[in-house]
Amino acid sequence: MIFLGPDHLLPARDWLVSLFERDRITLAERRALLAGLPAEGGAPEKPVCVCFGVGESRIRAAIDAGCVSVEAIGTATQAGTNCGSCKPELRALLASVPA
Ligand code: FES
Repeated sequence: MIFLGPDHLLPARDWLVSLFERDRITLAERRALLAGLPAEGGAPEKPVCVCFGVGESRIRAAIDAGCVSVEAIGTATQAGTNCGSCKPELRALLASVPA
């Protein structure tokens, strides 16, 4: 599959798979597929951790679930466990949460 778009953000894989698994899709779904955006889902989230495609909402969910360190976020989401270049952003997200 080739995806051409104005940025490097890809639509959610699950959404794409669900469309390709069907025999037919609606006109609205066809348009959404060509645009690379789910009709009701909005734009894909920019990943904070590019290595594992982990976005801010998933990291915030991990923090809400009790992760209080970059290492804990890594254990929960894999973010920050490869090249480590996203660790400053993970620390910033941790710091943005009221104690
Ligand atoms: S960008 Fe997060 S580990 Fe590489």
